[in-house]
Amino acid sequence: MNRFQRLSVATAIAVYLLIVLGGVVRAMGAGLACPDWPLCHGRLIPPLQGPILVEYFHRLAAAVVSVLVVITAIEAWRRERHHRTIVFLASVAVILLVIQVFLGGFTVLTKLHRALTAAHLATAAALLAVVVLLASLSFRTPAPISGGSRRR
Ligand code: HEM
Repeated sequence: MNRFQRLSVATAIAVYLLIVLGGVVRAMGAGLACPDWPLCHGRLIPPLQGPILVEYFHRLAAAVVSVLVVITAIEAWRRERHHRTIVFLASVAVILLVIQVFLGGFTVLTKLHRALTAAHLATAAALLAVVVLLASLSFRTPAPISGGSRRR
């Protein structure tokens, strides 16, 4: 696997795991364990216990995913420029990520407003679709350059 393939596969797996973690936050009713945003209980590192740990870990995992999505996009823009679909999807992933992070924050600030929570879930699904597509496209072998063994 080349660097871009490794990165895009790692990003897809990380987004999947983050979505599972989001489900745990929801199932445990831990969505407001950190009642503020972007800090948690007014601190960068809150007391790490019970539901706070789950919600805080969801935020930390989102930070790791953000770094991975951005690095994947930079790599796509720098090294996969010839592959327009990859560049397009990597850019869409960054846009969805930004929307998703703000939706997560506003979900908390509005005390889990139903529409925002639903939008947070919908954006998560869209982001997963995009990064999985990106990872699978990264394995597509480029079309051979014409002119080699042309038949007459
Ligand atoms: C790429 C980033 C993120 C992804 C993919 C993601 C994904 C998810 C998913 C799938 C859920 C479960 C939703 C449901 O079952 O309805 C969830 C829940 C939640 N997320 Fe995120 N999330 C991200 C970032 C964030 C951030 C930055 C925050 C900031 C506070 C956040 C706050 C929450 C909260 C509070 C819940 C629980 C909602 C509830 O209990 O109803 N998320 N997340």
